[in-house]
Amino acid sequence: MRVVVTGANRGIGLELCRQLQDRGDQVEAGARQPEQASALQELAARPGVHVHALDVQSDASVAAFAAGLASEDPRPLDLLINNAGYLGAMTPLEGLDLDDVRLHYEINTLGPIRVTRALLPLLRRGGARRGGLLRKVVHVTSRMGSIADNTSGGAYGYRLSKAALNMASKSMAIELRSEVIASVVINPGWVQTDMGGRNAPTAASDCVQGLLQVIDGLKLEQTGAFLDYRGGAEVPW
Ligand SMILES: NC(=O)c1ccc[n+]([C@@H]2O[C@H](COP(=O)([O-])OP(=O)(O)OC[C@H]3O[C@@H](n4cnc5c(N)ncnc54)[C@H](OP(=O)(O)O)[C@@H]3O)[C@@H](O)[C@H]2O)c1
Repeated sequence: MRVVVTGANRGIGLELCRQLQDRGDQVEAGARQPEQASALQELAARPGVHVHALDVQSDASVAAFAAGLASEDPRPLDLLINNAGYLGAMTPLEGLDLDDVRLHYEINTLGPIRVTRALLPLLRRGGARRGGLLRKVVHVTSRMGSIADNTSGGAYGYRLSKAALNMASKSMAIELRSEVIASVVINPGWVQTDMGGRNAPTAASDCVQGLLQVIDGLKLEQTGAFLDYRGGAEVPW
């Protein structure tokens, strides 16, 4: 499989690259600053991982990334994992910095929309339906984007941006279904990364094992769903 992973230089993204490489997939890894992505560059020293500059906030960067992928390799894209994400300060309503809320939208909502849109030609390469072969767009969301599950409030920028991402995924699912392209959001759990912190209960390796199992088992009938990394259970909206 040819797979794109965004936010590939650390955390869940880096572990996705590692496990995808280990099983023989071709990984196109996007990182904001490839020259500083030392762990990712170590993976790229072996076959199976190519590192590309990608800032999901930037139209120009996303366009250059998509053009590079299209010209460097004739193969179509089988799987896009929109993993890059941002969690800012969790400020109560009165102290809320609206520019920071906007930044969450730019990275967590518009980023995946921007990347998916730019990579559609590559997902479609080889014929719109490619003989009925399912291609997959997976957005790494969060339980914090669930309105039904919001029992503690706060985290405005993060919660809003992930809830909006969930809605975007649903619309993509409806729009792309006839082309045999699925779009789902998956909650990765609470994971030991820079974002999740050291107290998180789940190691990145376990999270990614679960994510890949859910992604591998994905059926077109599930398109539009909000899934959990554990066994692909549905998460309430
Ligand atoms: N960890 C958790 O407990 C948890 C829980 C629920 C959901 N998630 C979601 O899982 C995904 C991965 O999270 P993580 O825990 O691995 O976070 P992380 O350790 O903070 O890593 C975030 C990644 O996103 C990248 N990124 C941020 N802004 C970007 C931009 N504008 N363009 C390109 N890349 C950008 C970062 O790159 P830089 O190094 O350049 O900043 C980094 O590679 C995120 O979508 C997050 O919301 C995580």
